[in-house]
Amino acid sequence: MTLKTDTLEQWTTNQTLIQWIQEAVQLCQPDHVHLCDGSEEEYEILCQEMIVEGKWQRLNPERRPGSYVCSSDPADVARVEERTFICSEKKEDAGPTNHWKDPKEMHGILQNLFKGCMIGRTMYVIPFSMGPLGSNIAHIGVQITDSQYVVCNMRIMTRMGKKVLDVLRNDHFVPCMHSVGYPLTDGKKDIPWPCHPTEKYIVQFPEKRSIWSYGSGYGGNALLGKKCFALRIASVMARDEGWLAEHMLIMSLTNPQGEKKYIAAAFPSACGKTNLAMLTPTLPGWKVETVGDDIAWMKFGEDGQLYAINPEAGFFGVAPGTSMQSNPNAMKTISRNAIFTNVARTDDGDVWWEGMTKNPPAHLINWLNHEWTPNSKEKAAHPNARFTVPASQCPIIDPTWEDPKGVPISAILFGGRRSSVVPLVYESFDWRHGTFLGASVSSQTTAAAAGEVGKLRHDPFAMLPFCGYHMGDYFGHWLNMGHSKKAKKLPKIYYVNWFRQNANGEWLWPGFGENSRVLKWIFERTSGKGKGVDTPIGVTPTPDGLDLTGLNISDETIKALLHVNKDEWKKEVTELADYFKLFGDRLPKGIHDELHALEQRLNSA
Ligand code: GTP
Ligand code: SPV
Ligand code: MN
Repeated sequence: MTLKTDTLEQWTTNQTLIQWIQEAVQLCQPDHVHLCDGSEEEYEILCQEMIVEGKWQRLNPERRPGSYVCSSDPADVARVEERTFICSEKKEDAGPTNHWKDPKEMHGILQNLFKGCMIGRTMYVIPFSMGPLGSNIAHIGVQITDSQYVVCNMRIMTRMGKKVLDVLRNDHFVPCMHSVGYPLTDGKKDIPWPCHPTEKYIVQFPEKRSIWSYGSGYGGNALLGKKCFALRIASVMARDEGWLAEHMLIMSLTNPQGEKKYIAAAFPSACGKTNLAMLTPTLPGWKVETVGDDIAWMKFGEDGQLYAINPEAGFFGVAPGTSMQSNPNAMKTISRNAIFTNVARTDDGDVWWEGMTKNPPAHLINWLNHEWTPNSKEKAAHPNARFTVPASQCPIIDPTWEDPKGVPISAILFGGRRSSVVPLVYESFDWRHGTFLGASVSSQTTAAAAGEVGKLRHDPFAMLPFCGYHMGDYFGHWLNMGHSKKAKKLPKIYYVNWFRQNANGEWLWPGFGENSRVLKWIFERTSGKGKGVDTPIGVTPTPDGLDLTGLNISDETIKALLHVNKDEWKKEVTELADYFKLFGDRLPKGIHDELHALEQRLNSA
């Protein structure tokens, strides 16, 4: 088909956008083009269409109104890091932690793949804003896709539709091109989860600020506003413009006296951001409210404090493990208007996943569409099964969550899954040391990315899969932010580890709501209170520094949780020194000096 310029001009005045859409139509050859308005009606029609096509099922409206369930192709269940590319002009600029291909060569590959890739399908055009509409820290993108699933998820995860074009006018936008790579050539029938079995490409062009994604319909591979734009492309914009785009939750913490502080925390994928962002404190009188659960954009305000916004409008959260015990606020958030991907279905038209209830239902249809009983060998839900839900439905959403100014950050936390060595919490000595803590994050891999699970790997700043440029330069950017003229009151930086284990492989720390005890210590420390003791790695709480009132935990366990073993840490330093060699002369001196200083503290202690 050809799309009339008239039709497009009624929709937008942006000539670059019009031209880009016309080129996309020529390349992808869709049967129809749908310019998304973002209305509820449009959403409903697409959901209905997917039900008729056997792609989605509506959940029992009495159990979970306005909600749907679907299953992906079993080979398209997570981000594909091996197929993710940063195509900067120069290879060095992508750095040693990213996959790179020459942009011209990649352009050729993509032109071939996208040629005719939407035959027999509708091309959807989705204008979206990352960040509150019209805010001066928001950025606009337009995604082209042939997936109805993507349109519906983008409507929840971003501010999307006609209202975005009204703000965009003739300004710049980030073009995000996406196809599931399953054309319906010669009348071929559609399938419940179209994707390409082998050819997957998640490609960022940092200089051009553009994104091309082919072959997958899942999560971060396909909802291009999220990891591709708000992290990989935005991290490059942030470097150039002097701000930070981070894989961080944002939450507020209010003490019993009513004093409120904001905290941001970076943990790798499926390591506890959503859970911490929505935490129900076990400490009486303390309150947590949620600003965001996955991404933070941070800039210095006029007053010299670091202000954060959540560029997203929804949560794309890990379902397994989510329960009324572990995360009641998430459970309430997903009680309606939610999309569930790769969970199990109950006989009464609701959903279930491992960990949702103590006793599993007697019968389910699992994510693979198989009959399931508690004796089945297969999982009920895929470990990376997800819910998509509007953030506004969260019962503890912070009243300031859409404030275009952002919220002032008092503390930044880094963390990961470490079964040993790393204590429950420690505080950095200053910003440079804190930057070093971010650079030193390592964590056991999870089901959020395709590949082996449980393998310890370095994941600096929880940004390994999401940094759009050379990781060494990224460390340098963090150091520079610390001596920026605009910085007057820097957040304090911490490292936390909820996942330390005993010799039997059991968690030493109960986690979840009990993490409020650690947050209380951090809150107090940022006010110049809270008892700490200097160790070679940083400041840990004194045994009576943590409020353990009402918690049934032995002194011995607390000691084990806070223990800093010098020999283990010496090994850690040797290993880290080895890892940092990867960055060659692009490892900033500040990081090198911090490593050396840590080594000296360990040797002299
Ligand atoms: P992404 O959305 O992939 O970025 O993940 P996330 O960082 O938001 O992780 P999430 O909060 O969804 O947690 C992932 C898994 O970690 C879930 O299975 C949780 O049950 C588990 N988890 C979260 N917090 C804790 C904790 O404090 N202790 C323990 N033991 N497990 C936790
Ligand atoms: C992550 O993997 O960190 C996620 C899920 O938040 S995805 O959107 O698939 O990237
Ligand atoms: Mn994430």
